[in-house]
Amino acid sequence: MSEPTRVSILGATGSIGTSTLRVLDHNPDQFTVVALAAQRNVERLADIARRTGAEFAAIADERHYAALKDHLSGTTVEVAAGAAAVAEAAIRRADVVVGAITGYAGLRSTLAAARSGANLALANKEAMVTAGALVKSALAEGGGTLIPVDSEHAALFQSLWGQDREAITQLILTASGGPFRTWSKDEIRAATPEQALKHPNWDMGAKVTIDSASMMNKGLELIEAQQIFDIALDRLDVVVHPQSIVHSLVAYADGGQLAQLGVPDMQTPISAALRWPKRTKTAVPPLDLAQYGALTFEPPDRDRFPCLPLAEQAMREGGAFPIALNAANEVAVSGFLEGAFAFGGIAEAVSAVLDQTDAPKPQSLEDIALIDAESRTKAHAVITHMCK
Ligand SMILES: NC(=O)c1ccc[n+]([C@@H]2O[C@H](COP(=O)([O-])OP(=O)(O)OC[C@H]3O[C@@H](n4cnc5c(N)ncnc54)[C@H](OP(=O)(O)O)[C@@H]3O)[C@@H](O)[C@H]2O)c1
Repeated sequence: MSEPTRVSILGATGSIGTSTLRVLDHNPDQFTVVALAAQRNVERLADIARRTGAEFAAIADERHYAALKDHLSGTTVEVAAGAAAVAEAAIRRADVVVGAITGYAGLRSTLAAARSGANLALANKEAMVTAGALVKSALAEGGGTLIPVDSEHAALFQSLWGQDREAITQLILTASGGPFRTWSKDEIRAATPEQALKHPNWDMGAKVTIDSASMMNKGLELIEAQQIFDIALDRLDVVVHPQSIVHSLVAYADGGQLAQLGVPDMQTPISAALRWPKRTKTAVPPLDLAQYGALTFEPPDRDRFPCLPLAEQAMREGGAFPIALNAANEVAVSGFLEGAFAFGGIAEAVSAVLDQTDAPKPQSLEDIALIDAESRTKAHAVITHMCK
């Protein structure tokens, strides 16, 4: 029998982290846990570390260090706190690092993991959106492979595997359409956090659930796909597929398309990434197409979902624009979840920040951090004005 795969999980307490742990629990002989990281959920982090026998547990928020140490006293788990500790979790010797921190906050640890030489099972799409070129060069430096975990990119990755790259005509990302797919423009604009958090198919963290409702998620994923697969912008497309069974498609020059299908459960793309190209079993029920009867597809409505064209604009402009788009969106989603404004305010804030963006192409992580910080300041100012 081969050695167990050594896995680290950045964002272990979140939705992707939990799905990853389910895959590991289902295959106890195939994996060992090296390092875990979270932001502030000490009890859950300690529980996971204790249960998996992890070597190292990092909590980003330093105020929780004492509590984490306390929870793990009497175990062999090493404990540390702060951003440097999260970066250390990313570089402990592992075969694969699951990058599952939400948002721009995951960028530095994603870069550290990429440089470490481990394979990078990447869910943290915001890292690719804001710094795709840096992540790719860090991976080239380390020698590991990027294996996407986002279900659409996992589907594309698998549908591209072993195929003739020259013959690709299009990458088509599927989108569920979210909870507002059939709502009118005015209803969507006035929607509340409670309504936006009700995703019809996927059970995910709050930020990505709101992004799905606005279709900003699909926009971020287009940029992520462009970065991961080095594809020309005019070869990327989106189709709405409410059942979330077809997870994306690759069209080839012979007129055929390859797709990956499965029930909407993140354990499937995660398990594919952990030991790629080996498959790992999961407890996910097999897909029974007859039970679904019909799979339907429709074009996205860019008028009712203005975040999608805003992301497409940012992708076309490139340079500082995807960073500004992401920063403005993160600030706006937090404001919306805190109840500061209705759903329509997210697109409004992002659009206003993009209108104020003209920074030159970033050359370094410091440039990216500066654009991110400036865009956040602009977004806060726009929101303050909007809420007057
Ligand atoms: N959930 C899905 O099904 C899904 C599908 C596709 C892609 N994704 C992508 O995967 C990423 C994670 O999504 P999610 O839904 O799993 O999010 P989530 O449930 O909100 O979990 C986020 C995780 O990141 C941790 N975290 C946040 N900030 C951190 C920091 N500064 N340092 C260390 N850890 C930090 C959180 O810790 P605490 O718990 O302590 O706060 C938590 O473990 C996102 O980029 C999302 O777009 C998710």
